[in-house]
Amino acid sequence: MDEVVATLESGWLTTGPRTAQFEEEFARYVGAEHAIGTNSGTAALHLALESIGVGPGDEVITTPLTFAATANAIEHCGARPVFADVDARDGNISAEIVAELLTEATRALLPVHYAGAPADLDALRRLDREIPIIVDAAHAIEMRTDDGRRSGAGVELGAYSFQVTKNITTGEGGMIVTTDPERAAELRVRRLHGVDKDAFRRRAEAGFTESDLLFAGHKYNMTDLQAAIGMHQLRRIEILHARRVEIWEAYNESFGDSSYWTVPPSSCEPDGERRHGCHLYTLWFAWDALGMNRAECTEALARGGVGVAWHYPPLHLQRYYRERYGHSQGEFPVAEEIARRTVTLPLSASMSDTDVRQVIAAVHGLAAERS
Ligand SMILES: Cc1ncc(COP(=O)(O)O)c(C=O)c1O
Repeated sequence: MDEVVATLESGWLTTGPRTAQFEEEFARYVGAEHAIGTNSGTAALHLALESIGVGPGDEVITTPLTFAATANAIEHCGARPVFADVDARDGNISAEIVAELLTEATRALLPVHYAGAPADLDALRRLDREIPIIVDAAHAIEMRTDDGRRSGAGVELGAYSFQVTKNITTGEGGMIVTTDPERAAELRVRRLHGVDKDAFRRRAEAGFTESDLLFAGHKYNMTDLQAAIGMHQLRRIEILHARRVEIWEAYNESFGDSSYWTVPPSSCEPDGERRHGCHLYTLWFAWDALGMNRAECTEALARGGVGVAWHYPPLHLQRYYRERYGHSQGEFPVAEEIARRTVTLPLSASMSDTDVRQVIAAVHGLAAERS
């Protein structure tokens, strides 16, 4: 709060010194070479796709088990999202499935680290080194791969979100990371109208310099007010993550063995060097065994004071994508099955032990009622 007030008092509210500082600290945290702040994760995805020239006639392979923004960003470029079914272990698209969908028109791959489970980017890279990979890392800020690489390390282009439900937040906000310095410079221009020098950079230069318009760019810049929040969220990220892990492990221990639900395998893997991003804690319910459907389960949990969510209704079955591309039920059976069975439990560093016990009791209460 002090930083926000200091930002207001500084007079520099829009993209300026705090954005630059947050970008630098964020890049360091996720192991990326360059980071560019944006006003949302969706903007970050759109800019990343646009910067590699994704356009009409192109296909981008992605997952149907994600938030609408992932595929919408492809649509915003005039390209077609080609959905790949996901792996039952972690809900991520896998190289074997993607391999079958590659065509002459494939312009990029857009995997998501679903719920925070690391997608196997190395296997995707081995498919075809020429096809760029843009990673939707909205769920994966703290994630690390099997060999301990941070979520932004070696990532050609990645997009993060700081929307309010994310592990760290700026209210709304996002970040692009890239290994390529020239692309980073271009993205900075594209995120603010396409003007080659923004006000902050113009001020840093001695004397008056003219600016020029290089692209029909976007108004996607992060503000210093957002960065003021983000900087301090980031400084607490390991403390917040440690608390999420505590809650995660309490859930794993309590929900491990049941005929009424399954804990997704990727949620229980020993950590070692690998680190789950711990964004969404999901249970896959067996509705027949439990004797209720998901809406009834959600209502029963709400009566016990526990609010849950469903991540995600599969995108190919949402009206827009169904009608636009003629998708139908049964096309991506694993994604559909996970989507049908999934309930996301509350998970926040601000939850107390009493809150956690309340969630656990409410879920076990469903099974007890059935018994
Ligand atoms: C997987 C995924 N991708 C992209 C986004 C979009 O981020 P934002 O809301 O910051 O635009 C979100 C969340 O909102 C998300 O969960």
